[in-house]
Amino acid sequence: MAKTLTVVDHPLVRHKLTILRDRTTPPPLFRQVMREIAPLLLYEATRDLELGETDIETPLESGRFPTLDSGSVALISILRAGNGLVDGMLDLMPSAPVGHVGAYRDHQTLEAVRYYFRVPDRLGERLVVVADPMLATGNTASMALSLLKRAGAKRLKFVALVAAPEGVAALAKAHPDVPIFAGALDRGLDEKGYILPGLGDAGDRLYGTL
Ligand code: URA
Repeated sequence: MAKTLTVVDHPLVRHKLTILRDRTTPPPLFRQVMREIAPLLLYEATRDLELGETDIETPLESGRFPTLDSGSVALISILRAGNGLVDGMLDLMPSAPVGHVGAYRDHQTLEAVRYYFRVPDRLGERLVVVADPMLATGNTASMALSLLKRAGAKRLKFVALVAAPEGVAALAKAHPDVPIFAGALDRGLDEKGYILPGLGDAGDRLYGTL
């Protein structure tokens, strides 16, 4: 498997993922648990973030300490299921600017079709973390990354809950510079492009549109 992939296999992630995979998990719990996993994935994806320094006074003495510029990371949701992850990422980085990329999969061709694009400025100066729970064929993810690069993004990371080998390979081929973080690497895709064993349609399960 491509070396661009990091599987975040922390026990908390694995446990919460099982709850999401369970078909009996209802939308309110599904949303809550996705929100809980997202910061754990973001934690790994931002491990190499560069820190600045600031002068502060503790109650005992003054000193110079590490600090993060709130604009150093931009979070990008691939609509609509990406919102489920970005909501949880914002719990960890509440000041991060958020962008949205609307692209859907044509169920006939499995190709990505763009319908919305609104992102923060100065993308080139930020680490751009792109969130989509399901990395399936990789078509939508690949298109979103191309659009973000065209908008100026230079340093990108892709975060998924579940990845399929096909999607990882496609993304690694089209965007070898973009590290991928996922909670699990599943077996493969079915004939409709769904991940097996997966968790079904993440957007439908988040928003109860089954
Ligand atoms: N999108 C989903 O929501 N689920 C899959 O299994 C594949 C793509």
